[in-house]
Amino acid sequence: MQKSLLFIPGPVAVPEPVLDAMAKPLINHRGPEYARLLHSIADRMRSIFATKGDVLLMGSSGTGSLEAAVTNMFGPGDTVLACPTGVFGERIAAIAKMWGCTVEMLTHNETSTGVQIDLRAMSRAIGDHPAYVVVDSVSGLGASEFKMDEWKLDVVCAASQKALACPPGLAMIAVSSRAWDKIKANKAPRFYFDLQKHKEFFDKGEPPWTPPVSVAFALDVAIDLYEREGPRNVWARHARYTDALHAAVKALGMEIFSRDGVHSVTVTGILTPQGLDNKTVLTKLLHEHGVVISGGQGKMTGKMWRWGTMGAISETDMADALGAFEIVIRQMGYRFADGAAVNAALDVFARAGEKKLVGVS
Ligand SMILES: Cc1ncc(COP(=O)(O)O)c(C=O)c1O
Repeated sequence: MQKSLLFIPGPVAVPEPVLDAMAKPLINHRGPEYARLLHSIADRMRSIFATKGDVLLMGSSGTGSLEAAVTNMFGPGDTVLACPTGVFGERIAAIAKMWGCTVEMLTHNETSTGVQIDLRAMSRAIGDHPAYVVVDSVSGLGASEFKMDEWKLDVVCAASQKALACPPGLAMIAVSSRAWDKIKANKAPRFYFDLQKHKEFFDKGEPPWTPPVSVAFALDVAIDLYEREGPRNVWARHARYTDALHAAVKALGMEIFSRDGVHSVTVTGILTPQGLDNKTVLTKLLHEHGVVISGGQGKMTGKMWRWGTMGAISETDMADALGAFEIVIRQMGYRFADGAAVNAALDVFARAGEKKLVGVS
C-alpha cells in the first residue's frame, strides 16, 4: 500500500503517540480522572494562548468555537467590524449576520488564502479603543508566537486538528475577563455553546455535555509533545517548512498568493499557472503518489493549490511530496529545471539553524 503524505491545511498528520492515546479505554467524563485531564489541558493551553483568562474546551470542530464566540458575545443589533481575508473570515461574518449583528472579527490565519495578519500591529493600531476583539486562530494558534493578553484580545477561537497536530473533535475558546463581563450582560439565547455553562461545569472539572473523550486523551499527549519540542522550536519548524515550500514554488516559476509580510506559516496558497489543470494535478498527486494537498476555496476554486505545513511531517516527507509535484507537472507539460523545487527546499533545510527566526521576541 502506498504511504499517504497529508499536506492539507488540517486535519494534519498526527504523531503516533497521539494516535495511540485515542485507543485508551474510555473513562467517566464526570469522574476525577477526566477532571484532572480537563484542567491539565486547559492550564497548558493557557500558556499556548499566553493568557491568564479562561480556556474552555468544547466538543466540536473549529466552527463551533466561532459560533460560540459570536452568540455569547453579541446580540441582534450589535455592530461589528468586518475584515475578512478569505473564506473563513466570510464564515464568521456569516454567523454574525445570521445572528442579526452588523459585525465581523479578525481571522488570524486565513486558511483559504494562506494570509496571516499581524495581530501585534493590529493590536497597536486598535490601542485603547473599547471595541471587543474576537479572533479566529483556528489554523494559527501554536504555529507562531501568540500573545492573547499582551495583544489585548478578548476571545480567541482554536481547534485541535491544526498546529497542535491532534485529530479533530475539540475546539478551544479563550475568554478574557473583559469578555466575560460582556457575555454575562448579553441576553441573547444560546444552549450547546453557552460559555457560562461551560465555565460553570469546568470549575467542577466537568464538561456540560458528553465530550469526545478519546480526542481529549490525544490532545493531552499532543500538548506533551508540543511542550517537549518547545514553542520556539515549533514556531521555527513551521517557519522553516514554509520557507522551504516558498523557495520550491519560486524555483518552479510559480507564484505564491500571499504577499511578503503576511505569509501564513501553516498554509501556502500557490497560484495555478496557465496551462496546468488545477484539479488534474490534485488527482494525479493523490492517485499516483499518495500526496494530498488541497485546492482553492470560494472564488479561488480551480485557481490555487493550498499546501499545509503543519503536523507530523518530516523534511524528507516534504522533499518526497515536492518530488511527486515535479513529476506530475512535468508529465502535464509544465517546463522547469529538473529538481528545481526539491533542491530549493533541501537547500533551505540544509541551511536551517543558521537563520534567526524573525519576529519572535
Ligand atoms: C481559519 C479557520 N477558521 C475556521 C475553520 C473551521 O474549522 P472547522 O473546519 O474545524 O470547523 C477553519 C478550518 O479549516 C479555519 O482554517
